Amino acid sequence: MIRQAILLGSLRKGVRLPSTRCLATELGVSRNIVVMTFEQLLAEGYLQSQTGAGTFVTNTLPEEVLQVHPGSVKGSRTLSERSKAIKRVPHLNGRFCCAIPSMDPKLRYAPFRYGLPALDELPLDLWGRLLARHCRIAPAEVAVHGDPGGLPRLREAIASYVGAARGVRCRAEQVIITNGSQQAIDLAARVLADPGEAAIIEDPGYIGARAALEAAGLKVVPVRVGRDGLRVDLLTGKQRRAKLVYVTPSHQFPLGVVLSLANRLQLLDWAARNDAWILEDDFDSEYRYGSKPIPALQGLDGNCRVIYIGTFSKVLFATLRLGYLIVPEDLLDTFVAARWVFDRGSPLVEQAALAEFIAEGHLASHIRRMRALYMERRSIMIGTIREDMGDILETWDSEAGMHTLAWLPPHLDDSRVSEGAAKAGVYAMPLSTFSIRRPSRGGLVLGYAAFKPSVITKSLKDLECVIRQLSSTIVRWRPKSTRRLIA
Ligand SMILES: Cc1ncc(COP(=O)(O)O)c(C=O)c1O
Repeated sequence: MIRQAILLGSLRKGVRLPSTRCLATELGVSRNIVVMTFEQLLAEGYLQSQTGAGTFVTNTLPEEVLQVHPGSVKGSRTLSERSKAIKRVPHLNGRFCCAIPSMDPKLRYAPFRYGLPALDELPLDLWGRLLARHCRIAPAEVAVHGDPGGLPRLREAIASYVGAARGVRCRAEQVIITNGSQQAIDLAARVLADPGEAAIIEDPGYIGARAALEAAGLKVVPVRVGRDGLRVDLLTGKQRRAKLVYVTPSHQFPLGVVLSLANRLQLLDWAARNDAWILEDDFDSEYRYGSKPIPALQGLDGNCRVIYIGTFSKVLFATLRLGYLIVPEDLLDTFVAARWVFDRGSPLVEQAALAEFIAEGHLASHIRRMRALYMERRSIMIGTIREDMGDILETWDSEAGMHTLAWLPPHLDDSRVSEGAAKAGVYAMPLSTFSIRRPSRGGLVLGYAAFKPSVITKSLKDLECVIRQLSSTIVRWRPKSTRRLIA
């Protein structure tokens, strides 16, 4: 919005902008979002700041430096096409900005950033050796495009891994390697539904999935999540027309609940009766403590309605950008063709290294070690919350994953708590960020996997101070609809 106003001339060169605090109040958004937006526009050269004097619209716009002339016929067309492009991609226009200043380098690895694995435990030396070996032995293989569905030996390794570990039933050919789950969701949305069709998502739910589905032109329909996972009983009326439903059955993101067997069977039945697809995102199911992992929904499906999505972002690391789709046999060629059209396939050396990493048993042993480590970190986090903060935070008994959801007292606004925590160096994502409709209570998503016990207890103390301080000045929850787009 600010960029547009500058480009269109309604915010003139040299004009001083209001302070981030005033602008946030005026727009009804979190101050962090305004700070992030200012930082972005400063980096792009639209704004300049003068210590003590404030932030101003720059005198020479980047477009002028790049010789784009907004006044000319060609230039004004470029401008409107640019704003249309920005609108088309939902996560760029601010709606999917996190309420936390995640670009702030101080918070990049801060406790309790969710989704981070134990960084000092990553098998990076071994990974480096495998990459080097496959670079050397595969020059002929790497020089030409391979199967867009992925390297056959990696697909085989994944098929046998998910069969044994997750109860997924498939042949290796049904595994399609993707650049993480994000590409898998994007690919499935574009192959399985037409723009304008409805896609059901969990509310609260994973922002990445929502962004990908909306970017594919689908109309996202939020459905509530209860203690037994997605409220399948609410899939009635107009929701019958939905083309697909995105779910995280093994460990609902972010609440951490598990889709009950009754709900699983009902969902499979619903999909079969309504000719719809189920996207099963099994992102961190490897980490289940205490009880045996729950088999995947895909293994229960007798009607080939489930598209299974897995990722190596949690069991290894997110920048690896390797994940996979497991698709029904009759859709295999279509998905492979789509992969070829969209981007040809995933990087080959990494696929070869990963195939060996799995086949040699390194993945299984890494998961075993991390499971024990994360179990200990989880019990320290949950134990400390229950013992020392039981009156201000409530956690559910989720025996899985790499984060826990801590519920706040009903009168506290989770975005405000999150902002206060960020100032204290604690990264606590507010539940409202993941919610389309107002949650009955605010909460914080607290990742524990990456943090040593001493860090967990110290940072919980810091968080406790923030919550107790805010509790004494009661701030009420602000509906999301009032948070407008500003970038
Ligand atoms: C629900 C869910 N699915 C998938 C992922 C991983 O996405 P990707 O494989 O694209 O890194 C995440 C990461 O936080 C997640 O929370």
